[in-house]
Amino acid sequence: MITALVPGSFDPPTHGHIDVIARCAAIFDKVVVAVIDNPSKSSLFTAEERIGLLKEPCSQYDNIEFASFAGLLVDFAERADVDVIVKGLRAITDFDYEIQMAQMNRNLSGIMTLFVATKPEFGYLSSSLVKEVGRYGGSIDSLVPENVAIALKERFND
Ligand code: PNS
Repeated sequence: MITALVPGSFDPPTHGHIDVIARCAAIFDKVVVAVIDNPSKSSLFTAEERIGLLKEPCSQYDNIEFASFAGLLVDFAERADVDVIVKGLRAITDFDYEIQMAQMNRNLSGIMTLFVATKPEFGYLSSSLVKEVGRYGGSIDSLVPENVAIALKERFND
């Protein structure tokens, strides 16, 4: 039984995130999607809300579990007893940062990181850009799952 950990901020989840999670669900026996809960970093949605937003678009997979974590990812990975960390890579700019984290995490814990190339159509997508477009009233409907688009519109109208 192989368990993969897909960590992230997911503030908010985009189609790119869901694509990576869905592919992991098809490959691995179990997938743990872990949302970072970092009180010192301001986020649009709480960790609990982000888990709620992830659940709906992942509802067709019965091998995905959701959790939040604080502190080091590798400490959570050990507690959750996962075999591998999976990160999505959009472009070479992601690689620079991700390879450093992957090697640090490997050095700290021995857990390896696998990279999944995101679908080209999601290559330009990021949570920060989605928030920026949404905040100023641009169309986000093609960028995020429907439930996330609704939540974003509500949040920006608050
Ligand atoms: O979606 P993101 O913002 O790219 O996710 C980044 C995340 C949460 C996976 C990363 O920041 C992380 O692992 N943070 C936990 C703290 C940690 O372990 N830092 C050391 C990494 S080498």
